[in-house]
Formats: sequence, C-alpha cells, structure tokens
Amino acid sequence: MKTFKIGLLGLGTVGGGTLNILQTTLTEIKRRIGHNIEVRIIAVRDLNRARSVDVSGIQMTTNPEEVVSHPDVDIVVELIGGTSYAKDLLITAINNGKHVVTANKALIAEYGNELFALANQNNVIVNYEAAVAGGIPIIKAVREGLAANKIEWLAGIINGTGNYILTEMAKPGADFEQVLKTAQALGYAEADPTFDVEGIDAAHKLTILASIGFGIELQFNKTYTEGISKITAQDIQFAKQLGFKIKHLGIANRTASGYSLRVHPALVAQDVLIANVDGVMNAVMVKGDHVGPTMYYGPGAGAGPTASAVVADIIDIIRAQSQNIEDRVPGLGFKAEQLAQAPV
Ligand code: NDP
Ligand code: HSE
Repeated sequence: MKTFKIGLLGLGTVGGGTLNILQTTLTEIKRRIGHNIEVRIIAVRDLNRARSVDVSGIQMTTNPEEVVSHPDVDIVVELIGGTSYAKDLLITAINNGKHVVTANKALIAEYGNELFALANQNNVIVNYEAAVAGGIPIIKAVREGLAANKIEWLAGIINGTGNYILTEMAKPGADFEQVLKTAQALGYAEADPTFDVEGIDAAHKLTILASIGFGIELQFNKTYTEGISKITAQDIQFAKQLGFKIKHLGIANRTASGYSLRVHPALVAQDVLIANVDGVMNAVMVKGDHVGPTMYYGPGAGAGPTASAVVADIIDIIRAQSQNIEDRVPGLGFKAEQLAQAPV
C-alpha cells in the first residue's frame, strides 16, 4: 500500500468538503483502492479563520507556491478559484511533475488547452470532473461511457445557483437579491455571483462538455452567453399560465458549418422531464448516435456533491498510477483480497 500525498489549494466550500470526505470516508476509500491518501499541506488566505474541518496535523500555509513545489506532494488539488493565479500555480505544479485535480471551470474553459498540452509534455494527469454539474459524473459519462458514440447534441441545466434562483422565484413573494444571498450562504454561488446570474459559469461548463463530447478544442469565446438577471417573478408567472417553466439551459449542437454553443433562459413545457429539475439540481441530456438520448441528474453545486467529484478524480489518478492493476478484479477496481475482506 502506497500513501499518495495531497497538496490542497483552498479550504473553502469545496476544499472543506474534500478534506471532510478524505477524513470521514478514508477507510472505505482505502479498502476500495488499496492505497492510502494523506493531505500533506493546505494553502488558505487566512490562517485564523474558523474551519468546519479538523486541520490538526496538516501543514497550513498562506503561500500556495509552497504547495505546488512541495517535494512530498503527488497530487495538487486546486480549489481557490479565479483564473490567472490559479493558472500560474497549476503550471508550476505540472512542471514540478504533480498530477492535478481542479473544480475550476473558468480555468479549464479558458486555459485548458494550454494546461492539457503542458500536462502531456510532463506526463501528468489533469482531472476536472467537479468543474461541470457538481456531483454528477458527467465528464466521465460523456468521455468514457459514451465513447463509442458520435455525440449529436448535448443540453441541460448546468448552473445550480441559477436553477435555485429560478425555482425560488416561482414561489409567491420571492425576491431575486434575497434568493441569491441564500444561494451564496448555501455555498452554491461563485465568489463573484455575476458568473452565475449572467450565464458565464454555465458557458464555461458548456464549453468543457462540448469539447469532450465533440472532440474539439475548448472555445469559450465562441459560446453565446445570456443569464437570468433580467428574468422577473412576473415572467415566471406568465410562463406558468401558458404551460411553461423558465429554465436556464446550455445547448451544444453540431451545425452544417461546425458547432453551436449557447446558454440562455428558455421556455420549457411543464410536462417535460427537465422542466421539473428544480433547486440546486442539474440535469444534462446527451444524444449519442448509437445509444440515443441519455440523461444525467444530480446536485449541481455545494460542498458534498462537488467534493464527491473532486475525490473521485483523486482516486482516478491513484488508480492510474497503481502498479497493481493485474491484482484487480476485472470491472470492479477492487483487489481480490480486499473484496474477500469486505463487510457483507
Ligand atoms: P471558496 O471561496 O469557498 O473557497 C476558496 C478557498 O481558497 C478559501 O479557503 C480561501 O482561503 C482560498 N484562497 C483563495 N485565494 C487564495 C490565495 N490567493 N491563497 C491561498 N488561499 C486562497 O470557493 P469554493 O470552494 O466555492 O470554490 C472553489 C472552486 O471550486 C472555484 O473554482 C469554483 O468555481 C469551484 N466550484 C465550486 C462549487 C461550489 O458549489 N461552491 C461547485 C463546483 C466548482 P480562506 O478560506 O482563508 O479565505
Ligand atoms: N456556482 C456554480 C453553480 C457552482 O451554482 O452551479 C457549481 O459549479
């Protein structure tokens, strides 16, 4: 059993959730993957801030450079957000031979091409499942589960904050600003919530999904972007009277001349499945030429769901690095002796 050492950048909503999973579920994870995971060092802005997770025994720093250059760290997990500093840090991490996990969709959508090329040169992995649709393993579904298909289109609700706001605003007396504040308090919103309400966050996510689904470069600047900030409670009521719900959708199509990527509010008939995806939940539909239409549903934001995807990415890297692949039971990812010891 090897111990894989994690360097964590950020201990906010998602970083805290990630540490929580690695502390509370480690025994189960170790049993499944046959290796140990240790959080070696964490960078935060404020060392004195009260934390909801136990950091005793973990080196804490306010200098993220220490994390990406730490000789013991195998995997850097970037959860500070933003693009320019996060990008510089990950470039250093990759050049130092660290594998990377990030939930940062802005960073991947805008600089992913560059980061992936650098990762290839350095023979390291960059995983970013948490960057799209929170806890739904949509990247794996599209990249791996649907790999046999030509993806014809994909569409869905991919911003939890926006969907939460639209859902709450359908209730009598709801106020946009107040509902947004609640979404922030619940840990759903971006540090700058303009990204959520103006559709930028959804555009980042659609850019990433389309890139994987269609096998094209990331092209964020070609995504038409419109948010929900102009939608009023009255609009939602009028839509209801006509038999519709207003949903913020991301839609990616193949066209005669290439691809069309757009995010915007849309009227969706009330009896359609996706019209009934409410609150922080996300749903993504993907049409493959062989499989036909498929749909993926789950929580799109928040500490637990997002950290679930982050930890899955860490586990994937550990599995990819494992020297004991031949010991695994095919299809399960368990080693035979671990399976024998598993509680029934
Ligand atoms: P938070 O604002 O809750 O946490 C950010 C963390 O990063 C904090 O711990 C902060 O330190 C630390 N930090 C920020 N800047 C620096 C710096 N310069 N040096 C050291 N530490 C720093 O953000 P979230 O956890 O919500 O989001 C993190 C990332 O995950 C973002 O990219 C976001 O888009 C993405 N994401 C978020 C989701 C969510 O539901 N919240 C879902 C999916 C992705 P301190 O605590 O001291 O302030
Ligand atoms: N702010 C984002 C959302 C977080 O609300 O969907 C999850 O990516």
